Amino acid sequence: MKIAICPGSFDPVTLGHLDVIERAAELFDKVVVLVLNNSSKKSAFTVDERMELIKKCINNPKIVVDTYSGLLVDYAKQSGAAAIVKGLRAVSDFDYEFQQALINKSLYPEVETVFLTAKGENMFLSSSMVKEVCSLNGDISPFVPKEIVKDINLRCKGEK
Ligand code: PNS
Repeated sequence: MKIAICPGSFDPVTLGHLDVIERAAELFDKVVVLVLNNSSKKSAFTVDERMELIKKCINNPKIVVDTYSGLLVDYAKQSGAAAIVKGLRAVSDFDYEFQQALINKSLYPEVETVFLTAKGENMFLSSSMVKEVCSLNGDISPFVPKEIVKDINLRCKGEK
């Protein structure tokens, strides 16, 4: 069974993330959406909240949601994953993603990082942008799955 991990902070999950996760499920037998803490980002949602938001948007038995507090590659080793799947948006993502892919490869050479290009309409979509639009009372419904619009509004509206 070919297992892929879609890792990220997902704070919160966006339509861009969901597109990459669903496309990964077309390519692999099982996809683990792995919610991790990114040490360089301050989160609006706890890990448990982020996992719940993702679960609300997913209805595919091939996709599961999990979390881990150690190195991504250690989770990959333990779960027998063959690949880490990440979405690439504009060129601006490339340096950061390339660096992570190289570090992960040197820590655990058995795992491949596979990049899926973002759809055109998701090219400039990010969790930070969603939180910014929401906190300034903008409409986030074009950017996040409809199942979680209310939850994000409840948390972010009026917050900076
Ligand atoms: O959605 P993000 O914030 O770009 O995801 C980054 C993430 C969480 C995948 C990355 O920070 C990560 O892998 N963190 C887990 C710790 C780890 O393995 N670090 C070494 C790889 S750089």
